[in-house]
Amino acid sequence: MARKVFIAGNWKMNKTAAEAKALCEALKESLAPLAGKVEVAVCPTFTSLATAVEVLKGSNVKVGAQNIHWAENGAFTGEISGAMLKEIGVEYVIIGHSERRQYFGETDETVNKRMQAALANGLKPILCIGETLEEREGNKTEAVLEQQIKGAFADICECKMDQITIAYEPVWAIGTGKTATPEMAEETHAFIRKTIAALYNQEIADAMVIQYGGSMKPENAQALVAQADIDGGLIGGAALKADSFTALVTNAIA
Ligand code: 13P
Repeated sequence: MARKVFIAGNWKMNKTAAEAKALCEALKESLAPLAGKVEVAVCPTFTSLATAVEVLKGSNVKVGAQNIHWAENGAFTGEISGAMLKEIGVEYVIIGHSERRQYFGETDETVNKRMQAALANGLKPILCIGETLEEREGNKTEAVLEQQIKGAFADICECKMDQITIAYEPVWAIGTGKTATPEMAEETHAFIRKTIAALYNQEIADAMVIQYGGSMKPENAQALVAQADIDGGLIGGAALKADSFTALVTNAIA
């Protein structure tokens, strides 16, 4: 089954609203020729989401948030609900990024709650999973990923699976310049797909878009996405400039 390549930019805690506006304006133009050939999204900070939605309206670049709270509203100082994101026109939401697991106490259980909340509000989760260097060196990669997947997908209806993207991001490759080799990443992506097939079924696993993330750049995008089970990327550093992100997306589908 042919899966559409999906590249998303995770801007993390970068760009003021004015800077985000300028980058969105540039991407709207530079990515327009690729309309229909690839799914593209940018995920700015909460303070720039409305601006990004406004600038990118009618373009082929979608907008995602970087986090979501599971409650509909209430006494959760500093958090943002799914209804708030949906109302302003956000389509995707990154959930369970390793930086949130590492610095903000995110667990498989809270990841699952956020997944449920996103889906209930008609938002499309980009679920991040990945092992640390210590876990890889200790031969625990598959066990860690299996646990993260089982946790994240607990009680997620089969009927919602076509709304979900998985981003495999080996923690040791994020922002380090160390990319997993295409072969190494492919082996892990194939394992992730197999795990989804076991939890759901082969058809759902075959349709699941699985992105790679971790030091993906214009130079290595093509070799990574050429792998059978790598369907795109979740991009940090290289997504912060219009020229590098455009080159990366272009190369990924070349
Ligand atoms: P880098 O592309 O900067 O390594 O970041 C990857 C990432 O964490 C995307 O979510």
